[in-house]
Amino acid sequence: MIPVSEPWFTPEDAARVAACVSSGWVSSTGPAVKQFEAAWAEYIGRRFGIAMSSGTTALQASVAALNLAPGDEVILPTFTIIPCALAAIYNGAVPVLVDSDPKTWCMDVSAIEAKITPRTRAIMPVHIYGHPVDMEPLLAIAAAHNLAVIEDAAEAHGARYRMRNGDWARCGSFGRVSCFSFYANKLIATGEGGMALTDDPDLAARLASLRDLCFIPGERFRHEATGFNFRLTNMQAALGLGQIERTEELLRRKRAMAGLYREELDGLPLQLAAEEPWASSSFWMFGIVLDDSVPFDAAEMARRLRCCEIETRPFFLGMHQQPALLKRGLFAGERYPVAERLARRGLYLPSGLGSSASDFRRVAKAVRGALERA
Ligand SMILES: Cc1ncc(COP(=O)(O)O)c(C=O)c1O
Repeated sequence: MIPVSEPWFTPEDAARVAACVSSGWVSSTGPAVKQFEAAWAEYIGRRFGIAMSSGTTALQASVAALNLAPGDEVILPTFTIIPCALAAIYNGAVPVLVDSDPKTWCMDVSAIEAKITPRTRAIMPVHIYGHPVDMEPLLAIAAAHNLAVIEDAAEAHGARYRMRNGDWARCGSFGRVSCFSFYANKLIATGEGGMALTDDPDLAARLASLRDLCFIPGERFRHEATGFNFRLTNMQAALGLGQIERTEELLRRKRAMAGLYREELDGLPLQLAAEEPWASSSFWMFGIVLDDSVPFDAAEMARRLRCCEIETRPFFLGMHQQPALLKRGLFAGERYPVAERLARRGLYLPSGLGSSASDFRRVAKAVRGALERA
């Protein structure tokens, strides 16, 4: 079976983790956590990194750190993963959705303004599958309406966005706070893990406090505020550190994978993962969307590929189609046709760092074969 993703670790990565175990520094108290925070913040181009136990908890702590009032609204794409909506909900805020841009699959920035109300406090752009959101107009809307931007760069390690003045900026360098996941399938993988990044020293201090149950330094076990245990362990941080040093190589591998798929899948009735001229995608996962001319949907394509020993993943099911959120009285009757079509017609192909060019060629051949049997 060619897996959809598998991590790629070196003997040096294993040695770094083993060193934590042999030194006894296995909890979040240990030197690697601070080194990991500093190294990732520097790579992204931000002042502060606050390591968290996952991308989910990084988002949750980030929304918490903004001190929203109950009923305040956070605008986010419907086409994303559920922690984005939950970060708002668990903080008493209301997620408000926008549809996707049909080309990049990221949130349609031109749809944001229509969703702004007097209760709107924040926008959460999510860079989908490694492709940046069109950030500059989004930042202009946020500035005009005094909204915080919580950038979800969980899937976009190393991706870059070109500003209109020609300067390139890394995904994760925008807004008041940005969040990453270091889950096992991410470019930098620590098993589970995440980080919130910001340039604001007060926000950084609040995030660090929220992560650690709002303990007060010097007054152990007395709390003035309530927080969470969202700490990352020293072992996880140590695993991430060596990977940061080879981020450019990891990115090169992802981009080579995307280039190969683009060549091999050319001419088929598929929409392939895009890359806008103003974007440098990290191609975290290589997505395809079946053209309307294909007489079956993504679930059938996945089944056909599975028969060829190829694993795939369905695209996201929109937040407005999530039974768990509808049961909370959210999004009743809302429709987002682009996201609905992506959910029906889209899936992503094996994109792992552990797969080879010949694996990707075999996948492309199987996709071609599956479409020929239409
Ligand atoms: C866009 C996005 N946001 C948030 C998360 C949550 O990250 P984690 O799985 O580390 O909790 C993910 C996870 O893959 C994600 O893809």
